[in-house]
Amino acid sequence: MSGQFITVEGGEGAGKSTNLAFIKTLLEAAGKEVVMTREPGGTPLGEAIRGLLLDAAQKGMSSDTELLLMFAARAQHLNDVINPALAAGKWVLCDRFTDATYAYQGGGRGVSMARIAQLEQFVQGDLRPDLTIILDLSVAQGMQRAGARSTPDRFEQEQHEFFEKVRTTYLARAEQRPQHYRIIDAGQALSAVQQQIRQQLTEYLGNN
Ligand SMILES: Nc1ncnc2c1ncn2[C@@H]1O[C@H](COP(=O)(O)OP(=O)(O)OP(=O)(O)O)[C@@H](O)[C@H]1O
Ligand SMILES: [Mg+2]
Repeated sequence: MSGQFITVEGGEGAGKSTNLAFIKTLLEAAGKEVVMTREPGGTPLGEAIRGLLLDAAQKGMSSDTELLLMFAARAQHLNDVINPALAAGKWVLCDRFTDATYAYQGGGRGVSMARIAQLEQFVQGDLRPDLTIILDLSVAQGMQRAGARSTPDRFEQEQHEFFEKVRTTYLARAEQRPQHYRIIDAGQALSAVQQQIRQQLTEYLGNN
């Protein structure tokens, strides 16, 4: 029996990392064996690529280079972590995946969505997340939360408009395939966010 692939998406500071462990606990309580991971990254090579992608000193990185590095890290992640875990019947819980590529490189940077789709098919074959939880938050709130944390990385240095496009792209993708997405209002207090996540996930697990 193959496991399921669940991804958590959202803009900067939406609460992805905060809620990942919570989601893992919910899945484990339902008897699933869970592998928790993140993108870009998830392997030693992928984490090294992540370092390049986030490095604020890499100012001249072209959009195509950025896109290819994202998928290079993803290819390694699929090979070493995601595909083996799913094949072993484990559930994979990933902090960001290809929806983030559509949102950031597609929506934010303006790379053609068709180009991204080509790479998606090339790198992933037919693998797509079974379920994607989108933590939706206003750009201003996300910046406030993320900004309180550390020095801005290469993406966090982008302007407001970039993050609006990221948010809009996530929501548009969810609208296209509603059965694969759950949108959570991440602007609420953490306890309310987690209550909503619990409710959505319980319903999903009941049907899958
Ligand atoms: N519902 C919430 N209400 C208030 N603060 C929150 C909430 N959820 C998370 N936070 C806080 O917001 C900050 C950002 O959260 P977190 O790091 O989980 O976001 P993220 O989506 O992983 O961000 P990034 O995209 O930068 O990785 C943290 O300081 C976290 O404690
Ligand atoms: Mg995070």
